[in-house]
Amino acid sequence: MSEVQSVQWFPGHMAKTRRKIGEDLKLVDIVAEILDSRIPQSSSNPVLQEIIRSKPRLAVFNKSDLADPKETDRWIAFYRSQKIPAVAVDCKTGKGVPNFYRTVQERLGAQLSIWKEKGMVGRPIRIMVLGIPNVGKSSLINRMIGGKAGKAEVQDRPGVTRQNRWFTIGKGFELLDTPGVLWPKFEDPLVGEHLAFTGAVKDEILDLEGLSFRLVELLMELYPQAVDQRYKIEVPKEPVPPGYEILEQIGRKRGMLLSKGEIDLERAAAMLLDEFRSGKLGRITLEQAPQKK
Ligand code: G4P
Repeated sequence: MSEVQSVQWFPGHMAKTRRKIGEDLKLVDIVAEILDSRIPQSSSNPVLQEIIRSKPRLAVFNKSDLADPKETDRWIAFYRSQKIPAVAVDCKTGKGVPNFYRTVQERLGAQLSIWKEKGMVGRPIRIMVLGIPNVGKSSLINRMIGGKAGKAEVQDRPGVTRQNRWFTIGKGFELLDTPGVLWPKFEDPLVGEHLAFTGAVKDEILDLEGLSFRLVELLMELYPQAVDQRYKIEVPKEPVPPGYEILEQIGRKRGMLLSKGEIDLERAAAMLLDEFRSGKLGRITLEQAPQKK
C-alpha cells in the first residue's frame, strides 16, 4: 500500500462528509480551516472553497511553534493576498488564539454591524472548525473551550441535529463541537510523503528508511545548517549526496552500529523522523509559499 493510499478515504466517505458539512454550514457564520504550518499546502483540502462556497472562511496556521516563522509570515501574506484572512497559532501553548478571535470578528465586521442595526445584541458568532486529520482540530477546540475565553457548555438548540452540539466559548462565540474532518489531496504522491514526514500517516504502514532518506535530502536542500548543527556532520552541498549516505553519517556519529560495524539505518531513520517531528532540528517549513507576481 502506498503512503498516500494509507490515508483512508473512499468516494463514499467523501460524499458523506461533503453532505454533512453542507448541512452544518447552514448553522455557522464562519469556517476555520486548520493547517499544519510546516506543510500548509499538503495539509489543506483541495476542494474546500467548492464545499463551503460563499461562507466566510479563515485559515489557521497551527503548529506554528514547529515551523519557520519567516515562512509562516509568507504563507499568511499569501493567503491574505487571496482575500482569505489567516492567523498563526500554537495550540500547545495557546499562542495566537486571541488573534484568532480578533480575526474572526474582523472578517465578520459587516455582518456584525447588520446584527447591531437589527438589534440582535449578543448574537454569538458561530464557528466551525475544519481540517484534515492530525492538523490540530481537537487541540484548537480544547484550547478554545478550556482557555480563559470561557468554559465548555454543551447545549441543545432547536433545529440542530442530534449530533450537533455547541460550546459557548465566551467573548460572544459559539463553536460547533464536532470538527469537519476533510481529506488531503491524496492523489499527489508528494502530499502523502509530506504528511508522512510530519507524522500524519501511521508509521506502521510506511517504509521508514526510504522516508527518512527523502526527508534528509529535503532538509539538506532547505535547511542544511539545521542538519549540520544537530548532527555535526560534514555533508557536501554541491552535489548533496543521496539520503542514505547522509543517514549513514548520522547513524555513525550517534554510534548506531550493528554487530559487524554496519550502521543501524533503521534506528537512525526512526531517530531522524522523531527529531524532525518534535522540533529538535529547529523550526522548519517544508513547503514554501507561492511567490507573489
Ligand atoms: P486533529 O484533531 O486535527 O486530528 O489533531 P489533534 O488535535 O489530535 O492533534 C494532533 C497532534 O498534533 C497531537 O499530538 C497534538 O498534541 C499535536 N498538536 C496540535 N497542535 C499543536 C501545536 O500547535 N504545536 C505542536 N507542537 N503540536 C500540536 P499527538 O502526538 O498525537 O498527541 P499528544 O500526546 O502530543 O497530545
